[in-house]
Amino acid sequence: LSHTEPYRPQYHFSPAEHWMNDPAGLIYHNETYHLFFQYNPGGIEWGNMSWGHATSKDLTHWEERPVALLARGYPENVTEMFFTGSAVADVNNTSGFGVDGKIPLVAMYTSSYPVAQELPSGKQVQAGQQSQSIAYSLDEGETWTTYDAENPVIHNPPSPYGAEFQNFRDPFVSWHADTQKWVAVTVLSSLHKVAIWTSDNLKEWTLASEFGPYNGVGGVWECPNLFQLPIKGDPSIKKWVLVLGLNPGGPPGTVGSGTQYFIGDFDGTTFKADPASIYPDNKSANWMDWGPDFYAAASYNGLPEGGDVVQIGWMNNWQYGQRIPTSPWRSAMSVPRQLSLKKVNGKVTLLQQPQYSWRSVANHQTLKHSWKSVSKGSTSLDSPGKAFKIDLSFADHDSNKSLASTFAIGVRASSDFKQETLIGYNFTSKEVFVDRRNSGDVSSDKTFASLYHAPLSANADKRINLQVFVDWSSVEVLGGQGEVSLTAQIFPKGNSTEARLVSTDGVTQDVRLRINGMDSAWH
Ligand code: FRU
Repeated sequence: LSHTEPYRPQYHFSPAEHWMNDPAGLIYHNETYHLFFQYNPGGIEWGNMSWGHATSKDLTHWEERPVALLARGYPENVTEMFFTGSAVADVNNTSGFGVDGKIPLVAMYTSSYPVAQELPSGKQVQAGQQSQSIAYSLDEGETWTTYDAENPVIHNPPSPYGAEFQNFRDPFVSWHADTQKWVAVTVLSSLHKVAIWTSDNLKEWTLASEFGPYNGVGGVWECPNLFQLPIKGDPSIKKWVLVLGLNPGGPPGTVGSGTQYFIGDFDGTTFKADPASIYPDNKSANWMDWGPDFYAAASYNGLPEGGDVVQIGWMNNWQYGQRIPTSPWRSAMSVPRQLSLKKVNGKVTLLQQPQYSWRSVANHQTLKHSWKSVSKGSTSLDSPGKAFKIDLSFADHDSNKSLASTFAIGVRASSDFKQETLIGYNFTSKEVFVDRRNSGDVSSDKTFASLYHAPLSANADKRINLQVFVDWSSVEVLGGQGEVSLTAQIFPKGNSTEARLVSTDGVTQDVRLRINGMDSAWH
């Protein structure tokens, strides 16, 4: 059997072997979901950056394909690496890459040049330069032809930022229907700026505008992602969402990589953030995930217009990602998340829900139980195993009765509960938390053994709702309607199949729990 090594995710994508980081070029085409990703074909740490490739019919069962874009000169003498980017189906053949009516898939990515050189296009690049290039595929993403005649298609950072030629990357390209143009968002990562470009043919690009710096500017900006969503309950209003990776500089309590978002308007050239989306003095941010392991999130191109927006994130962190105790691979992707916008407590907020395809691996061994009141201390549960989904809800405190200060479910626990990962709610601070201090092997980094928290108020019927996806080496928590998300890797040692409820300092009322076992998506 494959995919049975310790810590191997059972229903999250991970490559069979070697290093993976950012998802890139997510595209749905001809009824197939493509996932390309940053990949080192020759090692378990970052290097030789190439585009790996996997395909799926349902976003849950994946088949790994041959490397799509292999670092040029690999393995002896790498002269160009293929950094993060995106892909589109050029339905109208604006690029002219299509042949005999065949729709070309076009990838736009960052060429990272380790050495100064003259390229086949005659263009000169400097050592460490990052430029934007394109490649196309006429065989469903299996093989790619780089556009050597002109690459890179965006050679240098826009003026006056020429000095930033080593910090200019991660083009996310999409079709802007209103203006009938291609739009690419890129980052000037050290300046905390997004540079927005437009094109008629994917080959010639014009600078349209810039955005930033705003909000989270602790580290560099990476991996911009731009998409449009209606507001739930007010679908006549459509907004644009700009998502950005920040490294280091995640939410309070995390160390390393984080993801923030802005809500605003985009007219095909300029992104203007809503005032409510901007914080004074860059002191805060709209965090997309409050845990340590959700980064470089990218959305799917090619989904039916006006339909779902589905995003996948890299479930790791640059702080320790290259030292996590997995072998012969490193890193997994998050569960695909369906995004929407809704007013929550008066503010338009990005909501995340698991994309429904997880149900195809949910089995029927369901634990379902309600308690009028869960007593103070520990309440044992039947062992749910190592991969499962939890729905947990309970009453918020509506009085000053001596109720619990925190309520949590402990998972992936040893039989003596000396090892466990706690997912719960702090009624005093009104925060969801993931506590991985005693989760098992925490040796990847001195900051790994930590407790992560996210603000969450009770819903309209005064309850706290949590959805949790547990896999062999991760937990993902979605709170409320999905207005908060917390993603964390865990590496439990030995047998770690136990679970329990823990109500601290008092009782927790009206508890409803449901657990679905999750099957392996690999068999
Ligand atoms: C983000 C990132 C990107 C870059 C890629 C290189 O994780 O640093 O900015 O394109 O990884 O692998």
